[in-house]
Amino acid sequence: MTEMTPVTEAKPVKLPTLPDAQTVTMVKHWTDRLFSFRVTRPASLRFRSGEFVMIGLMGEPDANGKQKPLLRAYSIASPSWDEELEFYSIKVPDGPLTSRLQHIEVGDKIILRPKPVGTLVHDAILPGKRLWFFATGTGFAPFASLLREPQTYEDYDEVIITHTCREVGELAYGAELIAGLKDDPLIGELIGDKLRYYPTTTREQSPKMGRITDLMRSGEAFRDLGVAPINRETDRAMVCGNLAFNIELKEMLEGYGLREGANSDPKEYVVEKAFVD
Ligand SMILES: Cc1cc2nc3c(=O)[nH]c(=O)nc-3n(C[C@H](O)[C@H](O)[C@H](O)COP(=O)(O)OP(=O)(O)OC[C@H]3O[C@@H](n4cnc5c(N)ncnc54)[C@H](O)[C@@H]3O)c2cc1C
Ligand SMILES: NC(=O)c1ccc[n+]([C@@H]2O[C@H](COP(=O)([O-])OP(=O)(O)OC[C@H]3O[C@@H](n4cnc5c(N)ncnc54)[C@H](OP(=O)(O)O)[C@@H]3O)[C@@H](O)[C@H]2O)c1
Repeated sequence: MTEMTPVTEAKPVKLPTLPDAQTVTMVKHWTDRLFSFRVTRPASLRFRSGEFVMIGLMGEPDANGKQKPLLRAYSIASPSWDEELEFYSIKVPDGPLTSRLQHIEVGDKIILRPKPVGTLVHDAILPGKRLWFFATGTGFAPFASLLREPQTYEDYDEVIITHTCREVGELAYGAELIAGLKDDPLIGELIGDKLRYYPTTTREQSPKMGRITDLMRSGEAFRDLGVAPINRETDRAMVCGNLAFNIELKEMLEGYGLREGANSDPKEYVVEKAFVD
């Protein structure tokens, strides 16, 4: 006679399966509104520096106890060659996703849909001599990827990143990343003295105050950087910020003679929303 399994053995608890789960490997809080984190990278995920993916957590159970993924678009802040994926995130106090995502810790799982898309990619702009990255707030994220992408320095003689935030603390993630680039064993040498950083704040005192749009209109930004105003022959641009910023900068770039490009039709500049208002 075969032995019976003891009836006292605990029945395994059925946890909801997390589709496309990745494990959190690092979390850093920069301010009470901003944090960055890294997760494992699916072996099959290929993306172009500057693209975004959908990430999230399982939503709360509905009346029938069913849980659905709660996903949001996020720029991949790490470059295409990195073995992990990095993200730079806002914390919206009552935001469906970030009110919870801000509490993730190393070892936790998040959902990552491995379908990268986006227009802030080298393929969507024509060759040029000087490349401008224009960011506000978390719009810095795609440029955190492109600033670590070798192609950025192979294709251009000069790269200028401007970052406008309300407060000084909101510049920290970008400032630290850029400060570390020169010593980066992979791309430090390639960057040489090609990269210029132009951070500005609008609501807290800092060495350079004002919206980048106003500073360009007055000519102050070009004088500070010692470069000629933007023109179609030499300059290319990528823009990522709030909607009003994107619209304003788009008009300015068109005024300088640049035309908006797309993956299927590369031109002189590209734009993407940093978030939907
Ligand atoms: C193409 C694309 C790329 C994006 N990449 C990033 C990214 O890399 N990092 C990131 O933090 N967010 C990014 N977002 C925004 C992101 O998708 C979510 O909106 C954000 O994570 C907040 O989610 P939530 O569910 O908490 O609140 P939501 O309901 O999505 O947003 C609530 C409100 O919070 C404000 N808000 C949302 N996101 C931001 C933000 N990033 N900065 C300032 N205010 C915001 C808006 O007023 C919005 O209406 C991106 C959005 C798009 C469309
Ligand atoms: N940052 C904070 O401390 C804070 C705190 C609480 C809540 N929030 C809320 O969070 C949301 C996002 O705030 P955020 O600061 O991350 O992003 P944001 O409002 O997009 O502002 C980021 C930066 O972009 C500048 N900017 C805005 N419109 C512009 C334009 N048309 N041209 C050029 N520059 C422009 C802003 O300057 P200006 O300052 O001149 O607008 C600011 O320096 C807002 O709804 C806000 O109410 C923010």
